[in-house]
Parts: sequence; C-alpha cells; structure tokens
Amino acid sequence: MSAQLQEMPQIRRMFLTDLDAVVAIEREVFLFPWTRGNFSDSIDSGYHCLVLEHEGHLFGYGVMMIGPEEAHLLTLSIAAGSQRRGWGESLLRHFIHVAREQHARSMFLDVRESNHAAARLYERIGFKKIAQRKDYYPAMGGREDSLVMELML
Ligand SMILES: CC(C)(COP(=O)(O)OP(=O)(O)OC[C@H]1O[C@@H](n2cnc3c(N)ncnc32)[C@H](O)[C@@H]1OP(=O)(O)O)[C@@H](O)C(=O)NCCC(=O)NCCS
Repeated sequence: MSAQLQEMPQIRRMFLTDLDAVVAIEREVFLFPWTRGNFSDSIDSGYHCLVLEHEGHLFGYGVMMIGPEEAHLLTLSIAAGSQRRGWGESLLRHFIHVAREQHARSMFLDVRESNHAAARLYERIGFKKIAQRKDYYPAMGGREDSLVMELML
C-alpha cells in the first residue's frame, strides 16, 4: 500500500473508548447534544455506530439503526474544523452501503427544519422530504419541527 493511501482517514466501528472524543464533538456542533449515555446505549443495542479517524484523531461519527427493511440514520456529525471537505458525504454514503448490504429498502432520517446544510447534503444524495414532525426537537425558547426524509435503497 502506498504511503498516500495509508494516510487516508478510516471509517471504523465506534467503541466505548471513543466516547470522550465523540461527546466533545457532539457538544461542539449541537446546541442540544446527545449524552454519553445515548452513544453507549446505541453501541450496546448493536446499532451501526461508526467513526471517521485519521492518525488517531477522531473527527466524525454517525449512528444508524436497521430494522426489518428500514434503516434509520439517528445522527451524523463532522467536527467543526473538518466540515465541508466531503467527509459527511463519505460517511453517509458508507451508511447507505451498509444499509443496502443488510437488505434495507429505504433509509429514513429527521433533520431540523433550520439545518439547511444537512438538508442540502441529504437532498444531494437523493433523500426526499416526505413529512414534517411538529415540535420534534427542543430549540432555544421553544420547539422546532423536523423534516422527515427518505432515501429509497
Ligand atoms: C451536516 C454535516 C454532517 C455535513 O458534513 P460535511 O463534511 O461538512 O459536508 P460535506 O463536505 O460532505 O458536504 C457535502 C454537501 O453537503 C452540502 N453542505 C454541507 N455543508 C454545507 C453548508 N455549511 N452549507 C450549505 N451546504 C452544505 C453541500 O451540498 C455539500 O456539497 P458542496 O461542498 O460540494 O457544496 C456537518 O456539517 C455537520 O456535522 N454539521 C453539524 C451536525 C449536524 O447538523 N448533523 C446533521 C444532523 S441531521
């Protein structure tokens, strides 16, 4: 393998030992972050929990649940200093690949109505808005709707 390939970031399983780094990014990028317990429960439940790592430095992660025929992307994050370099898209495409391998027929996710960056990423990949959930998320001074998006696999 060439030196250049060895330096490429790696997508791998998330372990409990990653949670300090995961929770630090989570608090950096979300106003209403998941707790350490949310992540450890996801690992314990056998959800697909993946991280992006480069030279021992973790800079992105996501969690996906797969049920009969349906995959649900529960969260996806790239550290603030590593955003807009294509890593969110790479990790999302990896989750889609895993969902297809597990014979899911569609993938669903919720995104805050105000999160235009994430919605744009999902639309670019082919997700379609199929519904709106009123007051789904906590927000500063109230609640915020989610857009439910689906990708046919
Ligand atoms: C949303 C997020 C995962 C995207 O990851 P990323 O690595 O920054 O995005 P990518 O570089 O892969 O971008 C892919 C495409 O998504 C869209 N996009 C990503 N960030 C964007 C932004 N800030 N503004 C507008 N479009 C954006 C663009 O279409 C982009 O393609 P382009 O750069 O060629 O225009 C990342 O910004 C993030 O972690 N945000 C905070 C947490 C979050 O909101 N997670 C999603 C919860 S549903």
